[in-house]
Amino acid sequence: MGGGLGHVCTAIARKHKNFRFMGQDLNTVVERGRAVVAEQAPDVTERIQFMEHSFWDPQTIAADVYFMRIVLHDWADNACFKNLEEYHPRNETELEDPDIGRTTSGGKVGASCGG
Ligand SMILES: C[S@@+](CC[C@H](N)C(=O)[O-])C[C@H]1O[C@@H](n2cnc3c(N)ncnc32)[C@H](O)[C@@H]1O
Repeated sequence: MGGGLGHVCTAIARKHKNFRFMGQDLNTVVERGRAVVAEQAPDVTERIQFMEHSFWDPQTIAADVYFMRIVLHDWADNACFKNLEEYHPRNETELEDPDIGRTTSGGKVGASCGG
């Protein structure tokens, strides 16, 4: 959600060969993301799809994991909490931040994992 051009999906896909991804973002970003992944990550292209979706709208995809990274930090807390209300984690797990090079983060990031 707010997945940008798919860099994080690509990094995780390369590490976890059985994962499939739906990168959600706004219209023009999704179009560019498709092109970027096709050009830069042909090894994982078949497992990474994109769709136009605003994270302010109800979620239409049933997934095991919903992942947001660097997308809510510049929005008001009450808007974010309302947005996240529909995501009720049944389990908590941790994914290693793939550190795609645009961030200094090399730590652990939380992820909600259900099912
Ligand atoms: C700072 S980038 C982070 C991209 C990616 N998550 C990452 O970690 O590299 C924020 C992303 O949120 C997207 N975004 C902003 N508003 C959005 C919305 N309402 N619905 C979906 N995506 C949105 C932007 O287009 C952008 O790709």
